This record gives sequence, structure tokens and C-alpha cells, in this order.
Amino acid sequence: MYIVLIGPQGSGKGTQADRLVNSLGVMKISTGELFRAERAAGTELGKLVAGILDAGELVPDDVTIAIVESRLEEVDRGAALGAVFDGFPRNLSQAEALDVALDGRGAAIDHVVEIAISEDKLVRRLSGRRVCSNCGAVYHIDHAPPSVPGVCDRCGGKVEQRADDTPEAIRRRLAIFAEMTRPLLAYYAERGIVSQVDGDQPMEAVEKDILSIIQDGSGAA
Ligand code: AP5
Repeated sequence: MYIVLIGPQGSGKGTQADRLVNSLGVMKISTGELFRAERAAGTELGKLVAGILDAGELVPDDVTIAIVESRLEEVDRGAALGAVFDGFPRNLSQAEALDVALDGRGAAIDHVVEIAISEDKLVRRLSGRRVCSNCGAVYHIDHAPPSVPGVCDRCGGKVEQRADDTPEAIRRRLAIFAEMTRPLLAYYAERGIVSQVDGDQPMEAVEKDILSIIQDGSGAA
């Protein structure tokens, strides 16, 4: 099964993708998280994308598509029962490349879920967000803090603020979302695979709505 989560920065895509990994056995393919891991490891790719991430600009499509393809190959090898995409695709050319990649595997996107939320909530969420610098686990200082401040519950790594959660980079990322990513909803709507959930609910309620859509075709339309 292949699921695409679409929503503005801070809507909870990463949070819900982690939950779907647990409930559906799919692989999370989060391009942002993959790029941050490359940067943390100091690889050539990490050095290439560091400045782009901090400015909130998009990494070039060929680089992004290649990193997604390498994760899909892990799914091919049986590592998971499909994938949930978080932060990919982000523009039309990435969406078309994903279609080609899945088609070549005899597969297709089963569900596109839009996580809808108002802009003022996003800013509050992003300013309180903290992430594990080692495994990428997502926390919030008010809604979902780690049990021990600054220490990841999952791996014991250091929990810190993301470098791109600055007011300038947040504004830039939201502008790119409105201009390039939101139009993908119309691209997928033609196939009848788009559903919307209300992202302004507790995390458990958002997850329940997404699972309703995926498992029995109901939930918020
Ligand atoms: P990426 O990592 O994808 O960041 P983003 O798109 O800016 O999305 P966010 O991670 O900010 O938001 P989210 O919706 O995942 O929210 P989260 O679950 O964390 O990309 C980073 C950068 O990488 C890009 O700017 C770009 O440079 C590059 N990049 C990535 N993909 C690319 C691509 N395809 N092409 C080119 N470049 C690419 O939640 C936010 C906070 O809210 C958390 O603290 C969480 O705990 C909290 N929260 C979540 N849900 C709830 C809830 N229901 N109630 C209360 N709090 C909640």
C-alpha cells in the first residue's frame, strides 16, 4: 500500500507517518528526515543540501527523486508492506516521477490524505517542535514532550529544535507549499484518491480518521 500525506509545514505529516508505520507496517519515506540524516552524518549529499534546508528552499528534484528511489528499493526487498510518503512529492515533476517509479513496480498510490489546519496553529506548533538529532522522532514541548527533557524516548539521542524552524524559513516553506505542493491535490483528485482530515485535533483523533479512510474507505471526506 502506498499513501501520500499532504499538508502544510507543521500540520503533522511526520507525526502521523510515524503512527502509520506502527499500525500498517509500511515504511516511512520522509525526504526531509532523510536529508537531515545525511547532513548529520556529514556526507557529500548532506553538505550539498545543508544550506538549502536551512533556507527552507527545495532540494533539486533529481537529488530528491534518487533518495526516494533508494528507499523504494528497500520496500522491493521486502522491508515493509508499502510506504507512507511525508514531504514527497512536493511539486508536479516529483509527483510524475513517483507515478513512474510505482508504475514500474506494478503499483500505484492508493490514498492521498490532506491534513488541513489553520496557519496560526502551524506557527505555534513549529515553534514548539523538537526533534531527535539521531533518529528523527518528533516531539512538542507542550503536546508531546520527551519523558526526560532533551533526551529521545526512542533512542536516547539529543532532542533539539530544527535549524529551519526559524520565522524566515517557516514563511518560505509555507509559501512554497501554497505555490507548488497544494496544487498536487487537484492532480490526484482526478483519480478519486484524495481525502481530507481535520489536523486540528489531538494526534490520536487525526490518526483514527486517517485509518478510517485507509482501512474501510470512510472517515472525513
Ligand atoms: P520536511 O522535513 O518535510 O519539513 P516540512 O515540509 O517543512 O514539514 P514539517 O516537518 O515542518 O511538518 P510536519 O507536517 O511533518 O509536522 P510534524 O509532524 O513535525 O522538509 C524539510 C526541508 O527538506 C524542506 O524545507 C526542503 O528544503 C527539504 N525537502 C524535503 N522534502 C523535499 C522534497 N520532496 N523536495 C525538495 N526538497 C525537500 O508536527 C509539527 C509539530 O506539531 C510537532 O512538534 C508535533 O509534535 C506537533 N503536532 C503534530 N500533530 C499534532 C496534533 N494533532 N496536535 C498537537 N500537536 C501536534
